[in-house]
Amino acid sequence: MDILVTGGLGFIGSHTVVSLIEAGYRPVIIDNLSNSDLSILQGIEAITGSSPVFFKGDVNDQALLSSIFEQFKISAVIHFAAFKAVGESVQKPLDYYQNNVGGLVSLLKSMKRYNVHHLVFSSSCTVYGEPEHIPVSEHESIKPASSPYGATKQMCETILQDVNWCHSQCLRYFNPVGAHSSAHIGELPLGVPNNLVPFITQTAAGIRKELVIFGSDYPTPDGTNIRDYIHVMDLASAHVASLNRLLKGENKHYFEVFNIGSGKGNSVLEVIHAFENATGVKVPYKIGDRRIGDVVQVWADTAKVTETLGWKPSRGIEEMMADAWRWQQQIQRNQELN
Ligand code: UFG
Repeated sequence: MDILVTGGLGFIGSHTVVSLIEAGYRPVIIDNLSNSDLSILQGIEAITGSSPVFFKGDVNDQALLSSIFEQFKISAVIHFAAFKAVGESVQKPLDYYQNNVGGLVSLLKSMKRYNVHHLVFSSSCTVYGEPEHIPVSEHESIKPASSPYGATKQMCETILQDVNWCHSQCLRYFNPVGAHSSAHIGELPLGVPNNLVPFITQTAAGIRKELVIFGSDYPTPDGTNIRDYIHVMDLASAHVASLNRLLKGENKHYFEVFNIGSGKGNSVLEVIHAFENATGVKVPYKIGDRRIGDVVQVWADTAKVTETLGWKPSRGIEEMMADAWRWQQQIQRNQELN
């Protein structure tokens, strides 16, 4: 079955493409390369031995979407293509609304025109804000968004609730990290990384002088923020499980949401120590000020996704760190060759 994967060369998209191919699906990728690189396509080929169909382009391009829906018998869409930097979204809110909200609307219009009624959507645990209950379940109330990025994810979920001809599953990701264990694909952060794990790997590699921990006076056991880190290959397999449910018609409602996390919380300091244990490499760090907008602690209640999709993550925090580090070293080898 042909599955349209928007943003299929991005961090989560590319790993999901690998899992789709391994599960017997045929991904058709559309990606504008705004936050990726064609080398990722070669990485996918190196892992799977097959080269997925790839279109360089934008989901806001209706003509391109039409030509793809006409050329392929698309059974479902997995929509990753979106901007994702919280800080940048405050600087460029309209770019975020246009790309993330406009992109989904454009995609849905094409899907309707070509009678494609199944969608897996990349959402985020950011919709919960600072949750009242931890672990946070899907029943938790949605809080006012603290950034335009968060607002776009909430709006997209609202749109999907309104569009009742489309069977959609919103996967609310916690903190995806790691890389494929082959180190053929992984995350390609642009410039200085905003996220913890790429910052750790670049610091360990000597590209950054030291990591700044954003606050150590939070009401948590060691004073640093707690997050739910999930290996990107576990996240990838959650997409396959979600897609299977939709395509078998097993969904109970046209709109369903699932938390996709490990169900475990790790503090910033615990992540640093896990990295050091897994790799034997030290990460120089210092304590800095809190970062505006950070929630104190959040991790997922994964009961619903385990019961409903039969999906469970299988990789622990040290494996996530070891794979992230292998990928960082591969990026450097690639740069030396070029
Ligand atoms: N952190 C540091 N130093 C850094 C980078 C991060 O101490 O240099 C800390 C942050 O303060 C936070 C933790 O590491 O406590 C994780 O930060 P990330 O930026 O890696 O991830 P966030 O939890 O802030 O954000 C992630 C995604 C967002 C999504 C959000 C939902 O990047 O897209 O989860 O909660 F919206």
